[in-house]
Amino acid sequence: MSTDASDAGIPREPIVLLTGASGYVGGRLLPLLARQPGRVRCLARNPEKLRRLASDNVEIVQADVLDPDSLQKALQGVTTAYYLIHLMSGSNNFEEQDRQAATHFAAAAKAAGVQRIVYLGGLGDDSDPDLSPHLRSRHEVGKLLRESGVETIEFRAGMVIGAGSLSFQLMQSLTDRLPVMICPRWLTTKTQPIAVEDVLSYLLAAKDLPPGESRTFEIGSHDTATYADLIREYARQRGLRRWLIFVPVLTPYLSGLWLALVTPSTYEVGRHLIEGLKNPTIVQDPSAQQAFSIRPVGIKEAIQQSLAGEKTD
Ligand SMILES: NC(=O)c1ccc[n+]([C@@H]2O[C@H](COP(=O)([O-])OP(=O)(O)OC[C@H]3O[C@@H](n4cnc5c(N)ncnc54)[C@H](OP(=O)(O)O)[C@@H]3O)[C@@H](O)[C@H]2O)c1
Repeated sequence: MSTDASDAGIPREPIVLLTGASGYVGGRLLPLLARQPGRVRCLARNPEKLRRLASDNVEIVQADVLDPDSLQKALQGVTTAYYLIHLMSGSNNFEEQDRQAATHFAAAAKAAGVQRIVYLGGLGDDSDPDLSPHLRSRHEVGKLLRESGVETIEFRAGMVIGAGSLSFQLMQSLTDRLPVMICPRWLTTKTQPIAVEDVLSYLLAAKDLPPGESRTFEIGSHDTATYADLIREYARQRGLRRWLIFVPVLTPYLSGLWLALVTPSTYEVGRHLIEGLKNPTIVQDPSAQQAFSIRPVGIKEAIQQSLAGEKTD
């Protein structure tokens, strides 16, 4: 691929690469990036899905993070690359695939001279021997990106609250459809979810951080709750009366009942997310508060914003 402008002695416009633009978080980040100076390049397995979003400053390129050859071209001329991908859908071996994808992406970014990778992963305590495969894999992806030598800004978030976020949708569909819920004890696990608007603010701000070492920021709303509290608050705001009955473990049978409420296309991802509910996902490192001026809203407000967003959609 030609480096046309720079070959002619004209400074190149910075290109921001966005992966996951067909997904929940990436799809919401794209219009915000497109409003900023410079060009945005979306990397997609199926560019047709995004064709309608192309504009003067937004281009779509075909690439697959599991295909290293396709990445070279996609990363050419890129200064900042957003990695907003997971491979949990339709994969029996998502940990291995996520590992391969991050390794390929990191190597291609290094070779292309990318200055910064911004990645959104998951909260969870690395020293917890019972960390779910999903959360373990999210952390491993961050490590692999950093090890490339490209400066990597990793955000670790719990559930993203917003209309269309799969983890939040899981909670919504359960609460909307089950007046009485049989719940495993670990629904009393502590969590610190975050409103999607706040996640987007962090992702955008990461692009303009001064250059430095790779950094990891734990992000979450300013209050903590249990998953059961989230269900109760969501039900309260929707005007639903719900009863939660706790049982010691969620047997495969009960887990299957829960997942029966999820659409077939999201079944696999839902299964992995539910496994992670047993792990506390709370912010332990306050450094995001010092590095950014963003002050995330509380859980109540995040749910309110999400319900308002649903109406607008
Ligand atoms: N949503 C949440 O609650 C939440 C919470 C914490 C952290 N996060 C993190 O945020 C990031 C984005 O999550 P999300 O909720 O936006 O996920 P999502 O809606 O499921 O989107 C996943 C994206 O990954 C892309 N993708 C999958 N395999 C690919 C491949 N081989 N090559 C290129 N692209 C591929 C998908 O593209 P296709 O259209 O081609 O499938 C899709 O755009 C993830 O790292 C996730 O762990 C999300």
